[in-house]
Amino acid sequence: MIKKVLFLCLGNICRSPTAESIFRKKAHERGLQIEFDSAGTSSLHAGEKSDPRSIRHAKLRGYELTHLSRPLTISDFKNFDLILAMDESNIKNALKIAPKEFIKKLKLVTEYCKSSDLNEVTNPNYSSISQYTHVPDPYYGDSADFNLVIDILEKCADEFFNKLK
Ligand code: 4NP
Repeated sequence: MIKKVLFLCLGNICRSPTAESIFRKKAHERGLQIEFDSAGTSSLHAGEKSDPRSIRHAKLRGYELTHLSRPLTISDFKNFDLILAMDESNIKNALKIAPKEFIKKLKLVTEYCKSSDLNEVTNPNYSSISQYTHVPDPYYGDSADFNLVIDILEKCADEFFNKLK
């Protein structure tokens, strides 16, 4: 039973707080009792609000980002049922501190970003979004990059919740 999910990226100010907010909203809409949190593999932005660009783009799409950046800790591996990383480098960094018995909790969030016939009929964007095997870092990017993060994560969230059924 999945009760607590942690999202992981590098700075915990762009992708993972966006994931946290998208999954929380979609879980709420489905009446699911799952807790979501996020963390970064670096403590570079610890204590900071999310990147203003992430906050702005998320808000335009109906998501509120209120998280304060925090680094991943060893106890997160015990406390969460799943740790969903944005890219392979997040996984590589997390493995440096992961207790062996909890390594299986660590996955790429895009594992859930697969094609599904039903969704592709209702949203033609989905067929192109399904090709992403990681969530690209938007930090040095523009508006399109921040929107892509939301597109990919919305798709991952829908597929994640479909699989829980
Ligand atoms: P995030 O994006 O990992 O999605 O939060 C980044 C945030 C900060 C930096 C890089 C990526 N940085 O280099 O400070």
